[in-house]
Amino acid sequence: MTEGIKAKINLLRHSINEHNYAYYVLDNPVLSDQEYDSLFRQLEKLEKENPQFVDPFSPTQRVGHPVNSDLESIEHTIPMLSLSNAINNEEIFDFNKRVNKWLNKEEIFYVAEPKIDGLGVSLVYKDGQLDRALTRGDGYIGEDITHNIKTINAIPLELRNLKTIPPFLEIRGEIFMSKNEFLSLNSIRKKNEEKLFANARNAAAGSVRQLDPKVTSKRNLSIFCYEVGDATNLSFDNHWALLKYIKDIGLPVNPLSKKVQGAQEMIEYHRTLEEKRDSIPYEIDGSVIKVDDYRFRNSIGDRSRSPRWAIAAKFKSKKEETQILDIILQVGRTGVITPVAKVAPVEISGAVITSATLHNQDEIDKKDIRINDFIMIERSGDVIPKVSNVIKEKRPNNTKKFSISDFQCPSCHSVIEKTKDQVAYKCTNIACEAKIKSSLEHFCSKNAMNIDGLGPQIVDQLMDEGLIKNIDDLFTINYSDLVSLERFQEKSATNLIDSIENSKNTSFPRFIFALGIPHVGQHVSKILDFYCQSSIENLSNMSFEELENIDGIGTVVAESITKFFKEKHRMIVVKNCIGKGVKINKTIFNISSKFSGDVFVITGSFRDYSRLQIKELLEQKGAKVTNSISSKTNFLIVGENAGSKLEKARKNNIKIINENELEALLDEK
Ligand code: IVH
Repeated sequence: MTEGIKAKINLLRHSINEHNYAYYVLDNPVLSDQEYDSLFRQLEKLEKENPQFVDPFSPTQRVGHPVNSDLESIEHTIPMLSLSNAINNEEIFDFNKRVNKWLNKEEIFYVAEPKIDGLGVSLVYKDGQLDRALTRGDGYIGEDITHNIKTINAIPLELRNLKTIPPFLEIRGEIFMSKNEFLSLNSIRKKNEEKLFANARNAAAGSVRQLDPKVTSKRNLSIFCYEVGDATNLSFDNHWALLKYIKDIGLPVNPLSKKVQGAQEMIEYHRTLEEKRDSIPYEIDGSVIKVDDYRFRNSIGDRSRSPRWAIAAKFKSKKEETQILDIILQVGRTGVITPVAKVAPVEISGAVITSATLHNQDEIDKKDIRINDFIMIERSGDVIPKVSNVIKEKRPNNTKKFSISDFQCPSCHSVIEKTKDQVAYKCTNIACEAKIKSSLEHFCSKNAMNIDGLGPQIVDQLMDEGLIKNIDDLFTINYSDLVSLERFQEKSATNLIDSIENSKNTSFPRFIFALGIPHVGQHVSKILDFYCQSSIENLSNMSFEELENIDGIGTVVAESITKFFKEKHRMIVVKNCIGKGVKINKTIFNISSKFSGDVFVITGSFRDYSRLQIKELLEQKGAKVTNSISSKTNFLIVGENAGSKLEKARKNNIKIINENELEALLDEK
């Protein structure tokens, strides 16, 4: 009897999975919605009556429990690189020219695919079963979104054709929300007076980063897969064959992908895709053109953040007509005042635009932009919308010219002054609240002090409550201050106090970057670390000439640093931070030229190090570390679960070094 029930359950699961495959991958549904729902309900009923047969990979188990705290950050086994852009046909043409030159060969085959405007994800299948899903994050570390990815019907919990599936397979793709889905989600949110999503990509990103998978399951997300990240025993000659394989094992691949040869065909593909753009039911923002042959990809290799073998050809930015209703001023972290045009709401590629940056007074004057003018507004991808031109023929009689100099700081009403470069205006009040708020937000941000849980809203709240006025006040906030505030519970208050406490143990580059000295980004902070031996005192005592002499530091940066430390209140804040327990750990510089000229690749996971740490250790000894094996690679550092790189290294007689050998090597003088 129970055998019969089990068989029936298996049959129902199989039919539901087959339907999902036919619907999402083949785009050829075999069941009507009612038939599908009926099968699903039958399965739910049988599983409820026979709980011994419930299986985590059953289609009824897609929506699990919410996760308790924040999403967990996890390092990608192989970094998820980004793509360099081509903004016109000439740059597509140049890309092909570069590839021809590198390979010393013409008429190369490429695969051209739509560039989906969604969010990159990595899906790990172990023995054919979905094991983990991560967001792309910064390319090195992503967030664990497995609980939400499982709710997406287009993503199989178990792959098909299991005989051909490697024990470890990491597939990469783009999660997106269709244009229709986005519009209906926003209209429901509008009815409920909830905040609207600016565009379909933000809606998709917001949906997969939920703690509760129930919310995600209602959002109807989808995916197109386009690369394999890491895999054991998987070998393909070219990308076209790999895309076919991805589809065969049950994952959606974009049907508009096409094999093309040479520059003319690439440009033709891109042009045709742009023409189709509006009739495609999801947002795309260009085409991605990739070298097809994997041997060619390997010999061309990668740059530090993007492969040389692919390019993202972007569509021209979209423009719409609207009218400027008002011009307002905003104050940034450094006090720079930016004029912003408030415009009559207009939709550009699914996003409703209500404001556009005007950059500065020069821009306003050059384009002769006035309040009440009709304008063309443009928006491309992530970039803040801007005014592309004024439609002079439509200029009404009631336009009003705008001059920043007529105004005071919109936050503290102090006098504003033109900066030295004569382009921007700045609020000079060191106590300006808007300036302090954005400095504080920057101080707490991920690449700065990394105080988890202290985003813009909480910073605003703490300032409004008078709990913080300066950066160093953060380090004296206590539990009872927080727990009495709205939005804070015992747990969130404890968590925030813990993150503030943890952030005190920091490094020189983080702290210097966090201070928000104009023109001092993460890279400059690292250079300064080396020259100042991780000492703030050393940095504050350096003269303009000394700073300017440092390789990688120019006049503007040197001037900005000396100016910053001359301002008394800055040094007081720094000293207060240290006095309240901020500990700047000394960076150990192990400068040597031991590996100078050697090229390393790192793969797998390690007992005592992250791959990023190994990379830094090797680079300190003069090595170059790249992402993929090419003819230039001398060493492969391997950890646990190494994938295809290990086989490739063996084939190419590249020296392979394990973690113990690496430690010995690093210890040697
Ligand atoms: S390939 C190393 N193919 O675009 C190459 N990416 O700007 C890895 N994207 O991070 C990506 N559609 O999230 C690739 N057909 C496509 C894509 C695509 C969208 C995204 C992806 C990537 C970003 C780079």
